[in-house]
This record gives sequence, structure tokens and C-alpha cells, in this order.
Amino acid sequence: MHDFRYVGNQLFCEGVSVDSLARKFGTPLYVYSQHTLEDHFKKLDTALASLDHHICFAMKANSNLSVMRVLANCGSGFDVVSAGELQRVIAAGGDPKKCVFAGVAKSEAEIEFALRKGIYSFNCESEPEIVRINKVAARLKKIAPIAVRVNPNVAAKTHAKITTGTYENKFGIAFEEVEAIYARANKLKNIQLRGVQMHIGSQITETTPFELSVKKVLPLVQQLKAKYALEFFSIGGGLGIVYEPALASGATSWWNSPAAKGIMTPATYAAKLLPLLQPLGLKILMEPGRFIVGNAGALVTKVEYVKRTGKKNFVIVDAAMNDLIRPAFYDAYHEIVPLKKKGGAPISSDVVGGVCESGDYFCKDRPLAKLGEGDTLALLSAGAYGFVMASTYNTRPLAAEVLVSGKNAGVVRERQKVVEIWKGEKVAAWLK
Ligand code: LLP
Repeated sequence: MHDFRYVGNQLFCEGVSVDSLARKFGTPLYVYSQHTLEDHFKKLDTALASLDHHICFAMKANSNLSVMRVLANCGSGFDVVSAGELQRVIAAGGDPKKCVFAGVAKSEAEIEFALRKGIYSFNCESEPEIVRINKVAARLKKIAPIAVRVNPNVAAKTHAKITTGTYENKFGIAFEEVEAIYARANKLKNIQLRGVQMHIGSQITETTPFELSVKKVLPLVQQLKAKYALEFFSIGGGLGIVYEPALASGATSWWNSPAAKGIMTPATYAAKLLPLLQPLGLKILMEPGRFIVGNAGALVTKVEYVKRTGKKNFVIVDAAMNDLIRPAFYDAYHEIVPLKKKGGAPISSDVVGGVCESGDYFCKDRPLAKLGEGDTLALLSAGAYGFVMASTYNTRPLAAEVLVSGKNAGVVRERQKVVEIWKGEKVAAWLK
């Protein structure tokens, strides 16, 4: 947990007290550390330095324009999954020519937009998609660069909802079929076979699944490279992060916290993969999302009520599952810490939001300091798949987002106004 740490008994993000941000900008509030973003990008970039490589940040993890601008300034491209995301790249000052376009459902309009903007590669997930891309490219008199997403059928041993590299999933094209598909795609006049892509899942904290899938796919990539003028092999994203308590252990950085012991780092990842990838002689693309932005963000919330039932101590906060759905959706763990350290014996607590669902919780039966109305908390490691998965369920406005750099803090997304939630809705004419 790099740049969120206690200074005395106050939680800081870089050089700014998080409590001062909560007071100034209100809660719920997403807070991001620019330094962590840059540092994590550089850690990966440096680990891969001996390879011809390019990082395409998987912006589905966090697509705030400022977050993207920070990464574009580091030299990052982007992995996009919709025309909307590509428009965001342009709005953030990124370069579409450094972007790859993934996703199983690309529409004709999306393909046309990406072609006109000069996308580096469409990462294709089915043969009908390749046929459609060829058709759109022919109409525009363009050549469309593509890669096929190979499904290596390797289990990544992560949460069922975020594993993608087996035949149980909708993603990619079965390993056994890939060669024939390249042969057929090669006959399409407006298709350029530019690369091969692979992604096995998310939040993978050990090197073995990456190593196994690369080992399995490499001979196929070599074969394809010998036949076609390929430029790249994308090894996807998926590098996991530490969600477990780091700050509670007193560590100033999660890299040196007990929770991080044994977890894959960019260095251990590179040590296993570089020797395999180096002889290939292709540019290596990577699409990390969570690794770069996960630990760079926290969701700050305020305690509204503390409610004791016969069995439980419920800490009811002003953030809810609509702001951060990961605990409700994946049973995900996020470390929860007070913005001002508290003494006293911990109490087993459930931290819950105000949405009318029993699934609306951030933790269950977790020992936390005794909390009371008005106390403020941070849910850590919420930078990835946090705000981007937020909704306005229960007509709750989207939270504000703040970026911190050193002693500077600026709003990078205004808190949504309640009336903006139903903007565009209408009462049907016959109801009036
Ligand atoms: N490349 C492809 C093709 C992907 O599908 C994904 C993520 C990534 C890269 C980036 O993966 P990462 O480096 O972030 O692990 N909402 C879930 C995670 C969904 C991941 C979807 N695909 C969560 O909150 O855990």
C-alpha cells in the first residue's frame, strides 16, 4: 500500500491528510495517488526493460481521465473494450495508435470508429468477428490489423467470475482451432495478421499459471510467426495485488508487508517469463489493469450510524455497494482503516452500506476499532474496478474522485448531482 500510510495517527495519501480531503470534498470519495500509479507502471516497465515491449493499461480497471493522462505521460497505451473507451483515450490525450481493442461483442460502428482512429490491433475473439472486421475495413478501403485471442485452456486458480482462460469461458478462440483460423483470415483481403494475444484471468498472485500458459502457447506463436509477418505477442494482464492487511501490520508499504510475502512481483514475474519470451523475437505487449491502479486508490467513507443487534455490531457507512461492488459481487476483501487511528480493544464488526440489499456489505465479522457516528474510514486497494463499476442504484449519486500528487490534491471528477441521475428520462406522453 505504497502511498497511503499513517503519519502519526493520521492516514495520509502522499503528502496530504486523507481526513482533510474528506472534509473538503465530502464522502463517499475516491482518492488516488499519482505517485503509486507512476511507480507501479515503472516497476513493470523496468522489469520488462530487456524486451522490446509495450504496456497497454487495461482502462476498464480505472478510466478516469486524469488517471489515464498520468499513464499516457508515462508512455502507456491502452487496452480498450468499447468505442466509448477509445473515445476516452482521445479525451485523455492518449494515442489510439498505441491501443488494442479487446472484447467479444464489437459492433460494426465500434469497428469503424477504431479503424478510422488507427487502432494498433483488434484482439479478436471469434471467427465471425474477423469476417465482420474485414467487411468494415473493405468498405472503408482500409487494412485492419488483428490478433487472435488464444484461449490456452489453463486454469488460473482465481475467483470463478474473473477467470477467463479455460473453455468454460466465453473468451478467445480454442487453442486447437487457432492455426486454421489464421490460415483463413490470411485470405481475407482487408485483414493484416499483426499478432497473437492471450489473457488467462485476473488477480493471479503466482507466476505458475502465467508460465504454463506462455509455455503452452509459445510453439503456436513461433509457428504463426514463421508463416505470417507478425509483430507482437500480447501476454495479457492479470497480475494480482495484495488486498490483505498491510497497514494494520505496521508496514509502510505493501511491498514489505507480511501479506506480500511470497506474492508475485514484477521482478519474479519477469524472471520466469523473460527467458521464455526473449528468443521469440516479437514485440511483447502487456495489458495490466489492477496491478497499476489497484493499490493506488482508496474509497473514503463516513460512519452514519453504529447499530448493535443481539449478535452483531453493524457499522453503517455512507458508501455502499453501488460505489464499490467488489465485496458484494466477488466476496472481495478490502482492508478498512480509520482515517484517524483509534485505540481500544477491537470489536467484531460488519461494515455495511445503506442500499436495500443484504449483500450490501464491505466486511463481515472483522475486528475493527470501536467506531462511532462521524468517524471516517478508508477502504484500501479500491483503485481498480472500484469507481468504474459504480452505479446509481437506489438513486445514489456517483462519488467524487480526487487525485493527489505530493501535497497537491484536485477533484478529477465532480460528485454527481442527484438530478443528473434522471437526466434523459421522461414521463411518457400518455401519462401526462
Ligand atoms: N486484458 C484482458 C483481455 C482482460 O479481460 C482484462 C481484465 C485485463 C487485460 C486486465 O486484467 P487485470 O490486469 O486488471 O487483472 N472486475 C473484476 C476484474 C475483471 C477483469 C476483467 N478483465 C474485479 O473487480 O476483480
